[in-house]
Amino acid sequence: MAHFLPYVALLVASVGAQYPEGSLYSPRVSNGYGNWSTAYTKARAFVCNLTITEKVNLTTQTGTGASYGYSLGIIPRVGFRGLALDDSPTGVRSTDYTSAFTAPLNMAMTWDRDLIYAQAYANGAEHKAKGVNVAYSPVVGPLGRSPEGGRNWEGYSPDPYLSGVSFGLTVAGMNAGGTIAVGKHFVLYEQEHFRQVIEWNSYDLPGVTYNITEPYSANADDRTLHELYLWPWYDAVHDGMAAVMCSYNQVNNTQSCQNNHLLNDILKGEMGFQGFIVSDDGSQHSGVLSALAGMDMTILGETSPNGVEGLGISFWGPNLTQSVLNGSVPGWRLDDMATRIMAAYYYLDQDQDFPELNFAQGNLATYGYLYGHAMADWRQINQHVDVRDHHAEIIRRVGANSIIMLKNTNNTLPLKSPKQLAIIGQDAGPSEYGPNGCSDRGCDNGTLAMGWGSGSTNFPYLVDPLSAIQQRALKDRTVVQFVLDNYDIPLIDTVVAQATACLVFINCDSGEGYIEIDNNFGDRKNLTAWLRGDELVNEVAGNCSNTIVIAHTPGPIIMEPWINHPNVTAVLMAGMPGQESGNSLVDVLYGDVNPSGKTPWTIAKARGDYGTDVMYKPNAPVPQLNFTEGLFIDYRHFDHAGIAPRFPFGFGLSYTTFSYSNLRIAPVLAATNATSSAATSPQTTVNPTVCPYTKQNASAYTFPSTISSLTDYIYPYLPRNTSFTIGPAYPAASVIPTAPGTPGGAPGLWDTVCTITATITNTGSVPGQEVAQLYLALGNGEPVRQLRGFNKTMFAVGESNEVAFAVRRRDVSIWDVPSQTWVDVRTLGTSVGVFVGASSRDLRLNGTMAALGSGGYGGGSVLTSGYGGGGGATPTSYATEASDGQINVPVATEASDGQINLPVATGSAS
Ligand code: BGC
Repeated sequence: MAHFLPYVALLVASVGAQYPEGSLYSPRVSNGYGNWSTAYTKARAFVCNLTITEKVNLTTQTGTGASYGYSLGIIPRVGFRGLALDDSPTGVRSTDYTSAFTAPLNMAMTWDRDLIYAQAYANGAEHKAKGVNVAYSPVVGPLGRSPEGGRNWEGYSPDPYLSGVSFGLTVAGMNAGGTIAVGKHFVLYEQEHFRQVIEWNSYDLPGVTYNITEPYSANADDRTLHELYLWPWYDAVHDGMAAVMCSYNQVNNTQSCQNNHLLNDILKGEMGFQGFIVSDDGSQHSGVLSALAGMDMTILGETSPNGVEGLGISFWGPNLTQSVLNGSVPGWRLDDMATRIMAAYYYLDQDQDFPELNFAQGNLATYGYLYGHAMADWRQINQHVDVRDHHAEIIRRVGANSIIMLKNTNNTLPLKSPKQLAIIGQDAGPSEYGPNGCSDRGCDNGTLAMGWGSGSTNFPYLVDPLSAIQQRALKDRTVVQFVLDNYDIPLIDTVVAQATACLVFINCDSGEGYIEIDNNFGDRKNLTAWLRGDELVNEVAGNCSNTIVIAHTPGPIIMEPWINHPNVTAVLMAGMPGQESGNSLVDVLYGDVNPSGKTPWTIAKARGDYGTDVMYKPNAPVPQLNFTEGLFIDYRHFDHAGIAPRFPFGFGLSYTTFSYSNLRIAPVLAATNATSSAATSPQTTVNPTVCPYTKQNASAYTFPSTISSLTDYIYPYLPRNTSFTIGPAYPAASVIPTAPGTPGGAPGLWDTVCTITATITNTGSVPGQEVAQLYLALGNGEPVRQLRGFNKTMFAVGESNEVAFAVRRRDVSIWDVPSQTWVDVRTLGTSVGVFVGASSRDLRLNGTMAALGSGGYGGGSVLTSGYGGGGGATPTSYATEASDGQINVPVATEASDGQINLPVATGSAS
């Protein structure tokens, strides 16, 4: 029998009843700033028309394998078909007739804004054409603290500026293509080892694996967090990022997905992020806490007790319904979650002509059960829609333009009608298993064009280098011989001895932690080439005076064993180039494309020179990764420690040469303008109302008798006959922090404060592109120099042109911890060193940006981008999170299996 229960009356009546003063989370309710306001208006209208269970349905996916259809938010009553979500940064994951794009790493290697955007747009368009509303891409966590990091290739560069530009452009491109780009993984997710307890502990290799009890905690100070790891997130929020995935690891010993400071204060507050935050698969560790801390959607929807997925057990789903009803999670927080999700949907106009989902992720069969675990609803689950369009051309261009030429003695390259080529190495040819032979690309067979894990996609085809070179060589009547077996030394010696040029292919691989290859648990265990690559190069070079090395890698490798061999005449790094691998390589080898890629990381002489590394053996049951190096990673470390790299950050040769001249530094804004555009406003109110609540019959929340439940499918309903109590309402926050309120932080951060120009001339004999780089020296304990601009331009032979760099206020600012603001160093009496050149160690021009007045921190023009600046309130009693990341929430009694223990019964529903 149903009872009317006065939920709302109780929620409002008992404000503050059982909550200790000062232990309050205050999730913000966004009003939709800037170009988000229309989306928010629509979202609010949509969400306020929903019941609690319908709102919960928007937050909780329906479970692993429970359905091949829409993953969440199916609301038949209002005709909403739900949202579909899928990976990845290299294409629509685990389906057919899609492109296999280059790794994002290659996008960064191009240093070409147009190409980055073009490929991102194409990837977004393919997701949309398959009916995917939300795509889990792009990646900037890992940033690449250590070159060994397994997923670095899914992202861009350890330099936050280059990563920030690339990340922002990818978000903007994918969004424009029509899918909601999910920036991931927030934040400090810098290694695979120990990211998940069950995953890691299931590896059992004596002497290699060690048990842990919690995911590792990445511990970084506030300045390092802001200036390195958060920096690119500002770009993406500014460029319209509508969704973020929180990461597996803990940050400063709080789980990322229930980290109030990171999610509410920083992402939604300081950066003005307007979209929703989704957990990673298994990174949600609580129901109530994650909701209060700002998480808005749970991936897959379920917990995986003991590593077993597909059991239909969720921290949210019915438990979120319960939490709202019993007062543990305020109703407005649920409204905010649902509103943020729907705002992202409207922000991308997905309510207009969005295609139906037309495939089943991970299942290529044409017919199957729509609800896999329940074995229910047999139907056509794949339409096999070809969404590739003309994207192969873009992939080929990104591939060719990303190739970095490190060495080219006596103009060995481009090849000029060679008489006989020897092509050596497994990495030159196809895999005997085909391009998709290993699940999620989890093996290193044949040419390497993609890393492994959820960042992978299926290849529609893979043009391997050998096929492409053979095809091209026909034109010149070149004799082509090859040996793909790295271990057949006699045959290799014989073949290379006859050739006029020997191309030797080497590689190494990395990926996500759930796959291990040869004791590489996602992260690389060393920085050398695999499959005896170093010996192979030396073997070839020992018998061939014109040895050209081509490397496919997820990052830098140590080249010392052969780089100075006199017979190694040329070296190309080609990253992970996707389906057009061979074609893009041929473009460069034969000079149709002049190489213009530059290293997005430093190539060291020795692994230890990097100063940072993956932790391979836990230092505690909850491994503590202390980022003690602070700001000094990659070239920042090499410069600081005075270590000579083999090839510096930003390095890359061309078939032509460039000269630099005529540096000009023109201030655009005076110091007095620094605070003028830094709006600061509260983003929420005390106990806000998003949607009006009305009393509802309790049966509205229990499993409807009109539907029969599918096995392992997560529903938002409470079980029939549930008895529960309506708890006290979530109390009002006593302090409402202020924040800039605009996506990307204080608007003043983005003002151009100075324009720097230089003249570049093509002094060689072929047209070519140059990536001119701007580095600034900010003093104040900052790295020696930091990239703060780049400009890739094509120059005809003899052409001279001016390149310009717009320096924004954020580019000359440091994060001031006491005031929690960005501070323009020029206002601290610091003059800024200006360097323009062809790499971080090839600085051709230099000058100075003058200091602006004097004074210590807080003097001069201080930007108000964090809390407390520019007259905002100080958030002293805002969040009092215990060091273990827990807070006391009296009503929440959540068991470790994700179930909520129902409080004492005072009412009942049936
Ligand atoms: C990865 C995410 C991915 C998710 C869904 C996780 O294991 O860390 O990057 O988006 O799986 O496939």
